[in-house]
Parts: sequence; structure tokens; C-alpha cells
Amino acid sequence: MAHYTCFRNKAVAILGGAEGIGKSCAFLYAQQQADIYLADINEEKSMKLCREIKERGGRITYVKTDATKPEQVRRFAEIAGDSTDLYAVIHCTGGFTGYTPTIHLTDEEWDKVIRLNMHSIFYSSREFAKRMMYSRKGSFVNVSSIAARTALKNTPIHYSCAKAAVESMTKVLAAELGPYGIRVNAVAPGTTKTDRAIAVRGEEVMDLWGKEIPRGTLASPEEIAQAIVFLTSEEAIHITGVCLDVNGGQLIV
Ligand SMILES: NC(=O)c1ccc[n+]([C@@H]2O[C@H](COP(=O)([O-])OP(=O)(O)OC[C@H]3O[C@@H](n4cnc5c(N)ncnc54)[C@H](OP(=O)(O)O)[C@@H]3O)[C@@H](O)[C@H]2O)c1
Repeated sequence: MAHYTCFRNKAVAILGGAEGIGKSCAFLYAQQQADIYLADINEEKSMKLCREIKERGGRITYVKTDATKPEQVRRFAEIAGDSTDLYAVIHCTGGFTGYTPTIHLTDEEWDKVIRLNMHSIFYSSREFAKRMMYSRKGSFVNVSSIAARTALKNTPIHYSCAKAAVESMTKVLAAELGPYGIRVNAVAPGTTKTDRAIAVRGEEVMDLWGKEIPRGTLASPEEIAQAIVFLTSEEAIHITGVCLDVNGGQLIV
């Protein structure tokens, strides 16, 4: 992992950070001596992560949050955004639990996935941006997906649409917040070896998909997190409004 000095004693807020890519982000930022603020719906996993980070000498504060509920996201932003020197906000909330062809998709499933992948990022961006505009610094990274750009096999329409919206939000917010010194970028991971993705796709499919891409293997969550940390660092100071593909070439084959 690259060593950055810009995160030392700065606050980094992570939504959906108790597992997968968000959890890897929490470890990497803690290594860089940031104060982590973690919002996640899963209390058990979050408490475990807090213990692990504290055992390694890191600093982390957990705020139980359902990111699809605007009042809970507002409370998280008040705690993480008002009390400290906020440097980065990472939006990892998202995902889907299985593939349903469009003709069988219910209104309820559509709403649930759209709310988790899209509304959560809107609520959080709105609340944190209000606060960051005063301090005139900081940046956001929104986690999109390769599914925003292509009809990825066995990937449902609501998820792909929500991720395309996340990339639009990234551009609009980058334009709105740039004059306040705030950068907004996205990372679009290819299929990544998180427990959730393995559960949804199956190990055999994950192995096969890994072999089929130019790099020859799918990313670990930490490899995606490294790109996220870079985009929030001083080294990326002139990068805003972009979506960085991190997919080992999965999109080009
Ligand atoms: N893994 C991939 O292949 C892949 C590829 C492209 C993009 N992405 C994107 O990367 C992001 C992270 O994916 P991941 O696979 O690392 O996720 P993950 O391992 O499923 O972790 C997501 C975390 O968010 C929590 N969460 C779920 N619903 C929430 C809510 N309403 N409010 C707050 N927290 C909530 C989950 O808790 P529970 O465990 O209790 O649900 C979990 O702790 C997502 O946006 C996903 O779409 C992933």
C-alpha cells in the first residue's frame, strides 16, 4: 500500500463499510492514521471490525445506520461531519442479492435495490456536502460498478440502472461542489472477490470469470480499496468528476 501523509488525524467517513470493499477501505485508511467513521446496518460485523482496527492501534467510531433512511444518514453526517476534520467520504453501500430477469422483477425488488444503491448516496452526498462546503475541502468517492457500462451477465436491471445513476450523480456533484474545493469521483469495480459476490455468483463462476479477463484473476476487495484511497489523496488533487474503472480489463473483453 502506498504511504500517504494527507490522511493523518483526518476523518474519513465510510458508508457500508463493515464488509467487503468498505471494510478494506477502513483498514487502509486506519493504516494511514485517519479517524474512521463507519456507517453500516450490520451491527455485529461493524463491532467486529471496530475491535480489529482498535487492536491494531487504529481509531474508529461506529454509528449504526440504515443508509436508505434519510434521517439516519443525516445523524451519521452530523456525527462524522461536524466533530472533526473531515477529509473523505466513501460511499460503498450497494449490491444485489441475486439475478431476476426484468420481466419477473417486482416493484418491491426494484425499489429496494434502487434505494440501497442510489438513494443512499444521494442522501449522504446532500448531508455531507452541506458541511464540507463550509470547510472548503474534502472529497467523495462513490462506488459504482462495471454493470453501469455494460450488460454484465446475470446482473439485474435495477442494479445496473442505479449504478449508472451513481455515475451521473458523480459528475453533477463534481460540477456543483468543485467551486467549494470539494472533489467527487467514482470507482467502478469489476466483479470483486467479496463474500457477498461469491455468495451471489458462486465460486465456480467467479473462478471462470477471473480466468477470462486480461489480468487472469478478479480483484480482491483491497485492490479496489487502494484505488479509492488514491482518489481521495493529495496525489489526485486535479482529478474530479471521473469514474475510474478498476476491473483487470473485464470491460474490454
Ligand atoms: N463485489 C463486487 O463484485 C462488486 C462489483 C462492482 C461493484 N460493487 C459495489 O461495491 C460496493 C461494495 O460491495 P461489496 O461486495 O464490498 O459489499 P458487501 O460485502 O455486501 O458489504 C456491504 C456492507 O453494507 C451493509 N449494508 C447493506 N445494506 C445497508 C444499508 N441499508 N445501510 C447501511 N449499510 C448496509 C452490508 O451489511 P449486510 O452484510 O448486513 O447486508 C455490508 O456490511 C457496492 O456498492 C457494490 O455494488 C461490488
